[in-house]
Amino acid sequence: MSPLLCFQVLILTISTATQIVAYQDAVSSVCLGNVLRVSVDGSILAGKSARVDALNGSDVIPITSFLATQCGYSMTSDPWGNTLLYASLQHCYVQSRGDGTFDTHLQLRTYGKDSGRVHTVSQSCSYSQLASREILCTNNYMEVSVEHGLPTSEQLKWMTSSVKDVTSSESVPRGMKVPRLEKVVIYTPAEKAFTPMELHKLGYGLYTYPARLLIRSPYDTTATYSQDVAGVPMAIMTSSLVYKHRWMVSLVKAAAACPTGGVSFTEDLISWRLPRHITPLLSSSSCETLEAYMGIDGQRMDEATMIAQGYYFYVTDTHFVVEMPIGSPYGYYKSHVHEGRYHTTYSIAPMIELLWREMGGSDETRYKVLFPISTPPIPRPPHVQDYTVPEEGMFKIVFGAFLPDVELINITTDSAVMTLAEAAANGFDIQEHVFPNGSKAFRLQVPFSHPTAVKGNPNVKTVTYGLHIVFGFLIQPEQTTFSYSSVLEAAVDDTDLASVTGSCDQMNVYITVQYGSQGHNFETVVGGSLLTAELAQQYSFNENGTHFTLTVPFGSPDLAFEAVHSSNVMGRLDVALQNLERTWNITYFSLACSFITSVLDCSPNGTIGALAVKLDTVPSLNPGQLSLNDPSCGPSFSDDRFAFFYFRVDTCGTTRAFKDDVMVYKNMASLKNQLTTNEEPKYQFVFSCIYSVNATKTLAYFTMPQSTAPVAEPGVGDFTVQMRLAQDVTYTQFYSDWDYPVVTYLRQPLFFEVALTTLGDPNVELIIDNCWATLNKDRASKPRWDTIVDGCPNPEDPDQTVFHPETLYDGVLFPSLSKRFEVKMFSFAEAEDAPVGQVVFHCDVVICDPHSPLNGLCHGQCAKQQMGRKHVKRGPRMVSELHVEHVSSGLIFLL
Ligand SMILES: *[C@@H]1O[C@H](CO)[C@@H](O)[C@H](O)[C@H]1NC(C)=O
Ligand SMILES: *[C@@H]1O[C@H](CO)[C@@H](O)[C@H](O)[C@H]1NC(C)=O
Ligand SMILES: *[C@@H]1O[C@H](CO)[C@@H](O)[C@H](O)[C@H]1NC(C)=O
Ligand SMILES: *[C@@H]1O[C@H](CO)[C@@H](O)[C@H](O)[C@H]1NC(C)=O
Ligand SMILES: *[C@@H]1O[C@H](CO)[C@@H](O)[C@H](O)[C@H]1NC(C)=O
Ligand SMILES: *[C@@H]1O[C@H](CO)[C@@H](O)[C@H](O)[C@H]1NC(C)=O
Ligand SMILES: *[C@@H]1O[C@H](CO)[C@@H](O)[C@H](O)[C@H]1NC(C)=O
Repeated sequence: MSPLLCFQVLILTISTATQIVAYQDAVSSVCLGNVLRVSVDGSILAGKSARVDALNGSDVIPITSFLATQCGYSMTSDPWGNTLLYASLQHCYVQSRGDGTFDTHLQLRTYGKDSGRVHTVSQSCSYSQLASREILCTNNYMEVSVEHGLPTSEQLKWMTSSVKDVTSSESVPRGMKVPRLEKVVIYTPAEKAFTPMELHKLGYGLYTYPARLLIRSPYDTTATYSQDVAGVPMAIMTSSLVYKHRWMVSLVKAAAACPTGGVSFTEDLISWRLPRHITPLLSSSSCETLEAYMGIDGQRMDEATMIAQGYYFYVTDTHFVVEMPIGSPYGYYKSHVHEGRYHTTYSIAPMIELLWREMGGSDETRYKVLFPISTPPIPRPPHVQDYTVPEEGMFKIVFGAFLPDVELINITTDSAVMTLAEAAANGFDIQEHVFPNGSKAFRLQVPFSHPTAVKGNPNVKTVTYGLHIVFGFLIQPEQTTFSYSSVLEAAVDDTDLASVTGSCDQMNVYITVQYGSQGHNFETVVGGSLLTAELAQQYSFNENGTHFTLTVPFGSPDLAFEAVHSSNVMGRLDVALQNLERTWNITYFSLACSFITSVLDCSPNGTIGALAVKLDTVPSLNPGQLSLNDPSCGPSFSDDRFAFFYFRVDTCGTTRAFKDDVMVYKNMASLKNQLTTNEEPKYQFVFSCIYSVNATKTLAYFTMPQSTAPVAEPGVGDFTVQMRLAQDVTYTQFYSDWDYPVVTYLRQPLFFEVALTTLGDPNVELIIDNCWATLNKDRASKPRWDTIVDGCPNPEDPDQTVFHPETLYDGVLFPSLSKRFEVKMFSFAEAEDAPVGQVVFHCDVVICDPHSPLNGLCHGQCAKQQMGRKHVKRGPRMVSELHVEHVSSGLIFLL
């Protein structure tokens, strides 16, 4: 059982009201020469199935596709269910009234959820001028109807009576009885004989009417063959029909030839060629064309329409040619998906209708071809037009064009798939725009600030926004899908980018970040750290709608050190605002500030505290590996940014130098086993403490790595020489300031100590140059009595001054820094205006480097005399190059 001639379509929903109205005009019929055309509007089907029945009196005959070919029905539908049904006027169930009037009754049934509808078509067509041969080519059959010239029943009757046939018991039938079709000889081109029954089974329709015989043949059967005629492939059916009436045999020839090709396409034109002389249908060598028409959908087209629509129908020596512009309203476009991409086809159903007469004959052939053509799928990649004006901060694109059967159903961004409703809720403005020709395009607007849109490049002044969108489409009614991906980019000279400003005081760096037009749409990198919530809290993050602030303390590891001075450190804070993916810097800010902090402590007691900081320029430095000149002196504290050294001036390889009137201690923190593999500068933190012996001051300076020039700045501390009077020779108890004036008796020994009280460097020696006594505090006053001269006891002194050797010193940490001597109390005899029995002792002391003495004085206390060089003249006194300190005792009374 072959399928019913059904068509099922899904079409756009229309309201019930329109459906009813439309239904009235939805089925119409028209007589077009030898065919009847029934048009069914797709809208009446509304997604339902439909079936066509032929009506023969009260019989309802469902038209299967097999029956359609055999009985002369053909049908074409577009994807929306709009259907054209062509019925040959000589179809099986036609009622011919003999006067050239043909009555057709058909019915159309729709099925569906609601009760089906039945629509009846009754059409009477008048077609009186049947040519001697009528050939009809449709998409499913070839039909030829010829005058057979067989004897009529009257003639048969005459023949029967004149030639007696006694063997026949048949009575001569009344009415239009015709001879019986015995067999059919088909030429393919090999000759082959069929019985009518056999051909019937092959789908042939064979009908013998009183004056004509009609054959309908499907295209692809064993009884048809293909032949190229003037370059056009044609299906050919050639036959001889053998009729028999008693002893009489009649032979009728019938042939049909229908084109199966001959179409060519250009981008905007369809050309269809039909051979001018369809030779298999001609018995003579040429024929004369009497009429030629072209038409569409079975209907002839008049010349005015042809011109208006750009159609051409012309004849060459060999062909009739129809040229049809692709896109003319008589055809239709359809969307397709082919290999995932959008394609369109254009379909049209032209017709050529000819009437010719063979040379030397009078028989005319009417030849009609209904020939539906579809172009092959043509790729139509959607065109994206970018209307983005960067200054507006919006992507604006139009993409299309698509045929009306295309629907946009979703969009996919990098983050999500959204239906159109979801997309609209998400800030995508998508509009459909319909062109006058029915095609559509889609307009999309989305702000640059949309979360999915931002991208960027490293140029700070220009921001590039990118948007990757995949559009998901659906083609109706087939519901096939395809997608199209688009990458949009726009560059904006963004003058309103987020920006950073900052300031410092001596403790902190204060950073203010102002949001740009994109709001807080960036990551912040402070120094080397991404500003996380935790870090933000640490840096006192504070935000209002347009700014946020951070307070980064000096000690923060995100601060880099650039340079060091004795009392301050240059710290640098880098702040980068980066896009969310952290692939580029929106802006970069760097602020260097000086923080007051002492990196060097030159303590008066001879200890040095030095803080070595890691510098930005020596990134690979591990401060914990630094050591002083003596490699065994490592830091007493270190982390990844600092190393703190604490040591005495006489240890750790500290060098000492006397310079003018100062003493300079110098050391250096460096990497002792430093591999010089990279290009980094060598880290050498050279620092010095300058002790000025006058000294209420200690000077400190240090040298930074390599080329950095030494910076000398005053430090803090004192360095004093003191002269004290002990209570006895044990030097354990001393008179203090408030014990003065000390009261003594004549020749009582006075135990003096002169000491560099605070400095703890045993390698320095204090030498007493001169001591003398006066009546009062004025060192220069007269009278004066010398007790020590050039470092030695005054030889003229009857009670010679006695030095107490350093080795005997108990409880003194650095004996070389002290000198003890004993003098006997005396009185100035010649004292007149001053109170008798009162003296003040004064000394000049020198601080010496015993290893590099500047002059003889520094060889030791009274070294010359000890060496017994009594008469040696004093060498040049270069005291000016030494520091000479003046000390005095308090007032001493003689009882
Ligand atoms: C149509 O009906 C008539 C009479 O009812 C019948 O003789 C004829 O054979 C039918 N035609 C076909 C093709 O069945
Ligand atoms: C319809 O018009 C639009 C705009 O002019 C055009 O882009 C599109 O190609 C046309 N569609 C067809 C099928 O001709
Ligand atoms: C989005 O549309 C595409 C193409 O039409 C389709 O293949 C896909 O399944 C759709 N996705 C969703 C989540 O609907
Ligand atoms: C936000 O903070 C910034 C910087 O602290 C300030 O200049 C600005 O006025 C503040 N804005 C508002 C609305 O408070
Ligand atoms: C941001 O800028 C800094 C300084 O110019 C640079 O070191 C860093 O690599 C930049 N970051 C990116 C992601 O470009
Ligand atoms: C030296 O003085 C510093 C303060 O200036 C003090 O911290 C340190 O303990 C003193 N050292 C000694 C050995 O007295
Ligand atoms: C010693 O230092 C004090 C205070 O700085 C200063 O007033 C005095 O002049 C100095 N004396 C000498 C001899 O340099």
